[in-house]
Amino acid sequence: MTFDRSLKIAPSILSADFANFGQEIRAVEAQGADWIHVDVMDGHFVPNLTFGPPMCAAIRPHIKTVMDVHLMIAPVDPYIEAFAEAGADILTAHLEAGSHVHRTLQAIRGAGCKAGLALNPGTGIEEIGYLLDMVDLICVMTVNPGFGGQKFIHSQIDKVRRLREMIGDRPIHIEIDGGITPETAPLMAQAGADVLVAGSAVFKGGSVDDPAPYGDNIRSIKAACGG
Ligand code: DX5
Ligand code: ZN
Repeated sequence: MTFDRSLKIAPSILSADFANFGQEIRAVEAQGADWIHVDVMDGHFVPNLTFGPPMCAAIRPHIKTVMDVHLMIAPVDPYIEAFAEAGADILTAHLEAGSHVHRTLQAIRGAGCKAGLALNPGTGIEEIGYLLDMVDLICVMTVNPGFGGQKFIHSQIDKVRRLREMIGDRPIHIEIDGGITPETAPLMAQAGADVLVAGSAVFKGGSVDDPAPYGDNIRSIKAACGG
């Protein structure tokens, strides 16, 4: 994976048909998805449950792009090896998931994955200064994590602008997760984000039997951002 700051759309399979992940992934990649975003929830760190390493391993062969795994779990460390073995390219842990995020990020890179750090909407960027050289991606949550289809939180635009300045020339992706639509996407692209996660806005109106709307949806998000 070479570093690339061009705009990328990462559809979240949280909005796909859970009985059909393999086909959904192949369909959305054929329709222009740049990465595949996989939302892992534990019913403890967030009030919802999704899936774990065996499911990630099962879908891995269907992903030709990048498997971007968002861990909404606490604790994180006991599961890093299993998610790495399941084939994650990027493993993103939340700053709020424990008191030793420095160790967690070391362990993620040690397991051979790119390391991501996610920040909840209520978390500031002041305390991540010493972590910047340990991360490949920072995920700014623009909803409170746990569910797809929530409303974008506008206060995060300023956070992304300040984060972009803080990152400077470092090869770190800024990913936005939650409430991305053709209306909200350009706000974040202008603020400095390069990866936009979108669940409901990509999968709406389509299905594995009729995947063309996935492509239309991806293209309208990119077009709204001017690209
Ligand atoms: C929220 C998840 C998101 C979510 C995005 O907890 O991390 O990835 O699926 O869904 P939309 O795009 O529908 O807000
Ligand atoms: Zn996510």
